[in-house]
Amino acid sequence: MLLAQITDLHLGFDGEGNDCPNTPRLRQVIDGLKSMQRAPDMVLITGDNVESGERWAYELLKAELAALDWPCFFLMGNHDRREAFLDVFRDHPSEDGFIQYVIDDWPVRILVMDTLGEGYHGGALCPVREAWLREKLAEEPDRPTILAMHHTPLQTGIPWMTAKPEAPWVETLKAVIAPYKNIERIICGHIHRPITAMIAGKSVFVSPAVAPEVTLELAELNVDKPDERRLITNNPPGFSLHYWNGETLISHSTTCPIGDPLLIYDEKQIKTIRHTLDLDKD
Ligand SMILES: [Fe+2]
Ligand SMILES: [Fe+2]
Repeated sequence: MLLAQITDLHLGFDGEGNDCPNTPRLRQVIDGLKSMQRAPDMVLITGDNVESGERWAYELLKAELAALDWPCFFLMGNHDRREAFLDVFRDHPSEDGFIQYVIDDWPVRILVMDTLGEGYHGGALCPVREAWLREKLAEEPDRPTILAMHHTPLQTGIPWMTAKPEAPWVETLKAVIAPYKNIERIICGHIHRPITAMIAGKSVFVSPAVAPEVTLELAELNVDKPDERRLITNNPPGFSLHYWNGETLISHSTTCPIGDPLLIYDEKQIKTIRHTLDLDKD
């Protein structure tokens, strides 16, 4: 199973009718994905799909993603709005009014969570969604499972893009998932840069974004004293691939455009490849 993750597209960044700087970035990501010889089985777009949650922006998103040849699933980020999204993506799965559902057709079960609290930047997990998560986890406690959510339940060390470990939604999440040994990975977006960590004994992976990167800067921040630090950096966009090898989930990410090849696999490289695979050893 090969799952592609695209996150934080923020399409429509400069408002309706204006060119969006994130559109060419998304096209670079789509081109990168389509250039791979092994295609993904599906694509999960993990929130902040558009900048301002408006219908026209979701129309734009739909038009851009028509270039993808694979099934596409979405979840909601803090910049998204469920009603406008469902207005455009009418057949997309949702449950109890939330964009949460299970992708159940593959060896790894994917629980897609909705952590949007409209009006808030940080995550949310109300009693309805908590009950949903409890129910879904209890259904198949032994099957390898991915939890997908927009918000990153981590104190990232980047002081302005972080979650407090004692935030109610993080505490709830930790309590619910702690007993489950079958959660292979929690995959997120929101932070606009690649991160790995553990929470409640589970692996967390944050994918690089389509939109510009949050700058790697871990200095303490005094909100009352701007210090000219770089907040956002114009680094290339990226995406991630989650590959289930039958035993464990391997998560890769890359930036786009994918660079010019320095070496390709032609006849001259057979010996090199055999060597890297240790095929010629006695
Ligand atoms: Fe974002
Ligand atoms: Fe976000």
